[in-house]
Amino acid sequence: MTKFPEDVAGVGDDRIVGSTALVTGSTSGIGRETARALGRLGAHVVVHGRDDEAGGEVVDAIEDAVNEGTAEFVRADFADPDEVSRLADRTRKAAGDDGLDVLINNAGGYFREPQLTDLGVEYTFHVNHLSPYQLTAELLDDLADGARVVTTASEAHRGDRIDLDAVTALDDFSSWRAYQRSKLANVQFAAELGRRLRDHDRDVTSNSFHPGAIPGSGFFRHLPGPLSKAAGGLGKLPFVTTPADGAATAVYLAVADDVADTTGRYFADLREKKPSTEAQDPRAQRELWERSAGLLGIDEPLAADGADAAAEDATGATAAADDAEATAE
Ligand SMILES: NC(=O)c1ccc[n+]([C@@H]2O[C@H](COP(=O)([O-])OP(=O)(O)OC[C@H]3O[C@@H](n4cnc5c(N)ncnc54)[C@H](OP(=O)(O)O)[C@@H]3O)[C@@H](O)[C@H]2O)c1
Repeated sequence: MTKFPEDVAGVGDDRIVGSTALVTGSTSGIGRETARALGRLGAHVVVHGRDDEAGGEVVDAIEDAVNEGTAEFVRADFADPDEVSRLADRTRKAAGDDGLDVLINNAGGYFREPQLTDLGVEYTFHVNHLSPYQLTAELLDDLADGARVVTTASEAHRGDRIDLDAVTALDDFSSWRAYQRSKLANVQFAAELGRRLRDHDRDVTSNSFHPGAIPGSGFFRHLPGPLSKAAGGLGKLPFVTTPADGAATAVYLAVADDVADTTGRYFADLREKKPSTEAQDPRAQRELWERSAGLLGIDEPLAADGADAAAEDATGATAAADDAEATAE
């Protein structure tokens, strides 16, 4: 029998009654299991996605379970910045004066067709990276002391770098490379957010994680031919990673005491893991942060002053050199 994610994460006995959590992309797959787990632990969960019916079912499942968890559904398309803002507004209202305790940036997917959003940004990059960035920026002032931001990345982030000039074009489009790029952005975003929160003396952590390869989630439906066809059958095999297994690391990062002060890190299977050298590069992280604000036409969130930025450059260069050395060892 599949264990609940909170039990796998070792936090099944923790209670988070009175806290509010937003789990993006929780109408399906890993997000749905994460939302249900946080509900079982007692949170008020803002369930998000585009499918009203599926969203309603997750809300019902949380409210019908035997515990204090409550939930509401907010529909928002992550290809549309206005809808992301509406999700931020609704979450702010749900969290009230106590603030938001958990933000799980999980919505996303693998998109096969080359497409620009109305903002002129490649669709995968917009949905998987730019919208979580926007959402987090809009909710920064609403994050409670001790809040945790968790971003669903992927091991697929390895093996690429982000050419930020290319995210507004479809030249030589490859759906796999677009996905890789967006997942690298997730790891870099989470690290940069962690650093900036710390620099601004905010008691809020930010980490990213790889949930495992999970054929039983909705994700595999969009993969090219044979993989998509095999996914349904593979997802039912007993030894395969399930969406509930995938949710365990998200729940762990959102709730466990032993990571309460851990920030800017990447995890897999409930353990910290070294991401790619490119993912760790502080200059690339900062450039992504600044250019993302530019693409959205917003002020840079948690901006550093000039002196801090110069100091960061110097430390960044040293850290990148150290990382490269460590990776080569
Ligand atoms: N499954 C894997 O093997 C795997 C491995 C590594 C990383 N991941 C990552 O895990 C995360 C969750 O994926 P999953 O595997 O659980 O897939 P999933 O079952 O397809 O769930 C994806 C969720 O994201 C939402 N979503 C997708 N596009 C959206 C859009 N344009 N606007 C708003 N919401 C949108 C979906 O909502 P609606 O359906 O309601 O629109 C759904 O709730 C993704 O970030 C994915 O990259 C998955």
